[in-house]
Amino acid sequence: MKKNSIDALMRPKSIAVVGASATPGKIGYTVVKNLLESKFEGEIYPINPKDTEILGLPCFKSVLDVPGTIDAAVITVPAKFMSGVAEECGKKGVKGLIAIASGFSESGRKDLEDEMLEICGRYGVRVLGPNIVGTLSNSDNLNASFAPFLPKKGKAALISQSGALLIAIDASSFSRGVGFDKLISIGNMSDVDFAEIVDWLNDDPNTTCITLYIEGLKEGRRFLEAARRSTKPIIALKSGVSTHGAAAAASHTGSLAGAAKVYGAAFQQAGVIQASDLDNFFDRTLALSLQPGMQGDNLLIITNGGGVGVLATDAAEKFGLPLKFAPPDVQKELKTHMPEFGSAKNPVDLTGMAGNEWYGDSVRYAYAHPWVDGLVILYCETAITNPVEIAQSVEKAIRESGVTGKPISVSMVGGERCDAAIQWLVDHGIPAYGAPGLAVNVMAALREYDQMRKSLAEPIEACGPENRELAIQVIKKARKAGRNSLTEIEAKQVFAAYGMPVTKTELAKSEDEAVELAKSIGFPVVMKIVSPDILHKSDAGGVKVNIQDEAAVREAYQMILANAMDYKPEANVHGVAIQEMAPWGTEVILGSINDPTFGPTMMFGLGGIFVEVLKDVTFRVAPVASNQALHMLGEIRGAPILAGVRGEKPRDQEMLAETICRYSTMILDLDDEISESDANPVLVYEEGKGLKVVDARIILKKK
Ligand code: ACO
Repeated sequence: MKKNSIDALMRPKSIAVVGASATPGKIGYTVVKNLLESKFEGEIYPINPKDTEILGLPCFKSVLDVPGTIDAAVITVPAKFMSGVAEECGKKGVKGLIAIASGFSESGRKDLEDEMLEICGRYGVRVLGPNIVGTLSNSDNLNASFAPFLPKKGKAALISQSGALLIAIDASSFSRGVGFDKLISIGNMSDVDFAEIVDWLNDDPNTTCITLYIEGLKEGRRFLEAARRSTKPIIALKSGVSTHGAAAAASHTGSLAGAAKVYGAAFQQAGVIQASDLDNFFDRTLALSLQPGMQGDNLLIITNGGGVGVLATDAAEKFGLPLKFAPPDVQKELKTHMPEFGSAKNPVDLTGMAGNEWYGDSVRYAYAHPWVDGLVILYCETAITNPVEIAQSVEKAIRESGVTGKPISVSMVGGERCDAAIQWLVDHGIPAYGAPGLAVNVMAALREYDQMRKSLAEPIEACGPENRELAIQVIKKARKAGRNSLTEIEAKQVFAAYGMPVTKTELAKSEDEAVELAKSIGFPVVMKIVSPDILHKSDAGGVKVNIQDEAAVREAYQMILANAMDYKPEANVHGVAIQEMAPWGTEVILGSINDPTFGPTMMFGLGGIFVEVLKDVTFRVAPVASNQALHMLGEIRGAPILAGVRGEKPRDQEMLAETICRYSTMILDLDDEISESDANPVLVYEEGKGLKVVDARIILKKK
C-alpha cells in the first residue's frame, strides 16, 4: 500500500493518545495534559479500555470507536502491545504513529519493531520513532510529547535522535535565547528518517533553519541528497565521532579514515554546518536562524574597546576570516565618528567615549558599504553608556540602512545590563553574545554556509574514460585464485582502466625474463616483489630502485626473492615486478574506503612513508568532480607545497584534481567489488607535466 505523506505526523489536525492515562505522572497522562496545555486546536481522543474520561475529555476503548478521523496516534502503551495497536490504527485509517514507547530494536527487540512496521506498511501508516519523546510545534500549538513545555518561540527546527537531548534543548531554549518552532524526536528511525523530515521542513514556512542532533545516519546518501536540496541552512551536532574500524584497516586510507572525518566531509559536500558542541550548536543556530549567509570575506569589526577588538581579531583568524584593513573611503568616513585617537582601520575602535550616536552612525555607514560583507559589533560596558540604548541604536541603524542580505552579530561584554541588551537584540532579530569570539565564530559559520551553497551550485564536471569490463576481468581472475587483494600489477591495470596514469609495470617470473623486461622498459628500473601475501613490500625488503644495468637486475632479482623468503616463508610469490622508474615528483596519496554510512569515499593527502604520522589528508564522498577535487587540494596543511614553495614551480594540480575525479568514478563504479584502495605514492610533476601512480593497492570486498 502507498505510504501516507508525513504531513499528518508533522501537522496533525486530530490526535489519539493510545495508552492515555488518568494517573498523573504517567507518560500517557502527561501527553494528554501537554496537548491541552499547549492549546492544541484539533481534536484530542484519549484511548484507554478502562476509562470513560481523562482530563475532562471523553475516553474511547479503541481508536476504532472514535467517531471522527484521526491524523496521528501518539502511542504510550508498552512495546508488547504495539502490533495490536498498529493493526487497529491501520484499520481506522490513522495516517501516522508518534511511537513514544521504547523496548524495540534499541534494546534487542528488532522483531517487535519489524512486526509493527510490517503492519503499518500494509495500511500505509507512517511511523515516527519508536523510542521517542514525541513532537512539538509552536506554530501548531502542539505538544504531542512528554517534554515539559513548548520551546521559546522562534524559526529554527530541531530533529533529534536523542529524546533526552531534545528535552534539554527545549528547556535551555529560554535561557539561551534561541527560539524553535519545532522539536521532532526521531528515535530509532524505523520508518521516517532525517532525510524525509529535512525535505518536509524545507517546505515549511515556519522554519528558517534546520538543526540536527545525529548519533548515526542509516542511509547516508539519502540524507546528503535531502541536505543538498535544502534551501535553508542546516546545522548538525554529531556525536560518537571516535575512530571506528580504523584498527582493522588494511590500507593507509582505511587507517586514516574515521567516522568524524567522513561525516565532516559529507556534511561539507551537502552544505551542512557542523556545531562543535552543545554551546556552539546554540550559538550557531541563533545566528543561522536570524541572519543571511555572508557573501564575501570582508568582515568589519566595530568596537569601543581595544582589548575585545584584539580578541575578536584573533578569533577571526582562528575561524578562517582574517581581517583586512578597511578601504580608504571607509576609514575616512568612520574617522568622523570617533575622537582623534580612535582607529578606523579594522577593528574600527570608536574608543571608550563611543555613545549611541557614534555607534549608530558608524554602523549605518559601514553596514551599507559595498566593501563590507559582514559586520561584528563589540561593546564593553562603560559608566557613560547604557548597553540597551547602544543595542537599540545598532538595531535602528541596521533597520534604517535599508540593506538586507548581509549578516551582523554583536558581542556585549559586561554585567546584567549587557545581558538585558543581548536579550533585546535577539528579540529584535540580531544574534548577540557575551564573548567577542562567539560573535565572530557565528560569522564564520555564516560565511561557511554561503561558500558551501555556492560550491553546491557549481556545475559538476565529468571526467575520464571508464573500462569496467577490463577492471572486472582483472578482479575476477584474482577472485578465481581465491584472493581478496590485487597485486600491484593488477591494481595498476584497474587504475589504468579508469584513465589514471600508472608507471609501466610488468611481471617477471624468472631472472632472464626480468632482464628482458628491464631492457624493453628502459633503464633505470625499479624492481618489486609481487605477492598477495606481502602488502607492505618495503618492510619485506622487497623493493629495489634505480637499477641501472643487466647485472644489477640479476642481483636485485635474487635478493628480493631471498628477502621475501626470510620475511614470510609461506608467502605465495608470483615473481618480481619490473617497473619504469618515474622521475622524482611531489609525493601524494589517493585512496578510498567503503564507508558504512556513506559508501565509496575518497581520500587525498600528502603521501609517502610518513602519511600515517602526518595525517595531512582530506576526504570526500564519491563522486568527486574535478572542480570539487580542486577544493580538496587546498584543504591540506601541505597545500603550499603543491602551489610551489621556495622557487619551485607549482605542481600539476589540474591533472591531480582530474585523477581524483577518475579515482572516485572507479570506486563508485566498482562499489560492489572494492573495499579499500590506495595509490601511494602518486608522483606529481610541474604544471602541465602530469603525474604517475607509482604504487597501487586494492583490497576486494569479501564475497
Ligand atoms: N490501548 C489503550 N490503552 C492501553 C492498551 C491498549 N491496547 N494497553 C494498555 N493500555 C493502557 C494501560 O492500561 C495504561 O493505562 P492506566 O494508566 O490507566 O493503567 C496505559 O495504557 C499505559 O500502559 P502501562 O502498562 O501502564 O505502561 P506505562 O505507562 O508504565 O509505560 C510506556 C508505557 C511509557 C510506553 C513505556 O513502556 C515506555 O516505553 N517508556 C519509555 C518511553 C521513553 O523513554 N521513550 C523514549 C524517549 S527518549 C528519552 O530517553 C527521554
